[in-house]
Amino acid sequence: MFNFDYYNPTRIMFGTERIKDLGTQLPEDAKVLITYGGGSAKRFGTIDEVIQSLGKRKYIEFGGIEPNPHYDTLMKAVEIVKAEKIDYLIAVGGGSVIDGTKFIAAAVYFEGDAWETWISNAPLKQVLPIGCVLTLPATGSEMNGTAVISNTALNAKLSHKHPLLFPRFAILDPRKSYTLPTKQLANGVVDAFVHVAEQYLTYPVYGKVQDRYAEGLMLTLIEEGPKALKEPENYDVRAAIMWSATQALNGLIGVGVPQDWASHRIGYYFTIHHGLDHAQTLAILLPAVLDVQRENKRLKLLQYAERVWQLTEGSEEERINSAITLTRQFFENMGLPTYLRAYGIPESAIEEAINYLKRFNLLPLGEHKDISVIEVRKILSLSY
Ligand code: NZQ
Ligand code: ZN
Repeated sequence: MFNFDYYNPTRIMFGTERIKDLGTQLPEDAKVLITYGGGSAKRFGTIDEVIQSLGKRKYIEFGGIEPNPHYDTLMKAVEIVKAEKIDYLIAVGGGSVIDGTKFIAAAVYFEGDAWETWISNAPLKQVLPIGCVLTLPATGSEMNGTAVISNTALNAKLSHKHPLLFPRFAILDPRKSYTLPTKQLANGVVDAFVHVAEQYLTYPVYGKVQDRYAEGLMLTLIEEGPKALKEPENYDVRAAIMWSATQALNGLIGVGVPQDWASHRIGYYFTIHHGLDHAQTLAILLPAVLDVQRENKRLKLLQYAERVWQLTEGSEEERINSAITLTRQFFENMGLPTYLRAYGIPESAIEEAINYLKRFNLLPLGEHKDISVIEVRKILSLSY
């Protein structure tokens, strides 16, 4: 196992009726900006619950943060925060609202061009405190220090990670996910599953705890994902999914072990240029990455085949093939097609995606940093 530091400062407040405890986490004199997305949080009453919990504290609402949050929209919030002297941010929504709010919290203190500062990955010195109310289990953003922001004018979608970006607290009420459209629920399960895969399907370093933990999360998502589609108001199922998604990317399973993230990095291109949902890009790319990287990943793929899919018969090649096929079928059964052509993406996108990765210096990728142009082309051809 590699050396590691692990520190996660986010308080998790899990369960039913927890929004009413939100006020206990904020200073009495906090001046709050409540951020949300296209309106679901307002429509389903979550914003009202948050406002109630704030008691006498002053607040301003900022709605309209898009899926794959846009830099321009977020900069409008930055102006409001500065003008109104806001000192606490509450994000109500999924990964996009939480990521966007992390950007706002940091950009308030940026000097000069905010986008350039953000993508320069310069260490942040100060951010505003953030709390969040999660409505979509998927990204793990509620308990990590990552934010993925899109700049539509520049056709760029880039992620940024910093310890100051962890929310101070996150309220996880599984019932808040009941109103999710089927597509978003399925996206969330697939995204969480792929987060585990990115940290588990690499090469063995005797990370026994991380491996068993990762396998437990994968098995839970495989078992509970389809149930959640069939029984939209089954609390236990939603609770298992919500907690799995948070655990999948709160850093714990990734400590001391190699990490891949090739599917994620390549996927950003298909979201920013072709409008695919984040999880759709992963459903397409992960099976192809596993296939192309099967030599490097052989030992972990065999472990995955046996422990997650109970595949013990046949040759190594057969077990690996079956594990990849079953992974693909799981995504398809959740309702996410796993080939680019199924989304109407033109074949010319393969070379464009390679150019995108070159333009943002994202190559080479993978746990061995051995996925360059040739391998990406193979992955995308297999994905087509
Ligand atoms: O905008 P509203 O009206 O709220 O509707 C949203 C949105 O349209 C809807 N929704 C959310 N909760 C709902 C709901 N609708 C009904 N009932 C509810 N309870 O769902 C739609 C999608 O929301 P979004 O926040 O975009 O989805 P998700 O949580 O999947 O976040 C995706 C974003 O997170 C980034 C992705 O790249 C993408 O930009 N990621 C962030 C990561 C991180 N911070 O660690 C890691 C991930 O790998 C990912 O890259
Ligand atoms: Zn993801």
